[in-house]
Amino acid sequence: MLSVRDARCDDLLQMQQTNLWCLPENYNLKYYLYHILSWPQLLYVAEDAKGKVVGYVLAKMEEDEDPAHGHITSLSVLRTHRKCGLATKLMTSSHHRMVECFDAHHVALHVRRSNRAAFHLYSETLDYHIRDVEKGYYADGEDAYDMRKTFHKPLDDALATLPPPPAS
Ligand code: ACO
Repeated sequence: MLSVRDARCDDLLQMQQTNLWCLPENYNLKYYLYHILSWPQLLYVAEDAKGKVVGYVLAKMEEDEDPAHGHITSLSVLRTHRKCGLATKLMTSSHHRMVECFDAHHVALHVRRSNRAAFHLYSETLDYHIRDVEKGYYADGEDAYDMRKTFHKPLDDALATLPPPPAS
């Protein structure tokens, strides 16, 4: 059985190992620690029945920027566990917390232009759109899509921001 749960500090080594297996963009352990100590609500792991980490999402908030928004630093699912909906679940879990805990207006990420699987996930499944193309963003010179998803406010909130009706 596969499940998605909040990440804990003792998952960080397995998250780092999963990242090393799946992506060329790698980070030292301090960077994972910085994320979990600063935004513990936003990190999730997928685990198998034996408790082995098979996927993760590493996310953070850009709280000093206006409007406050989330950022997906890294997402990976082991090749053996792909196309089971795990990445979708990891991402939507983190999105919900960005809104619930930090009132995030939107979430942003970068993805390689050639990464068809991730691009499908972001654009088709999760409703991100391309905001910009960053030329030579990656160390090997590949371009990145700068993608963004806007969180829709509840209807009551939207009504509160409507201008007053015109005087008759
Ligand atoms: N080609 C096309 N579409 C795909 C592929 C593929 N190879 N893999 C998954 N999808 C689609 C699924 O069919 C599904 O579409 P649907 O909602 O229309 O049915 C959607 O993407 C989501 O599928 P999930 O099962 O939730 O995704 P999965 O758990 O397989 O993980 C991921 C997708 C994370 C991209 C995985 O392939 C992976 O780990 N790749 C290597 C690491 C990577 O590229 N990470 C993202 C880098 S960008 C960043 O980190 C911000």
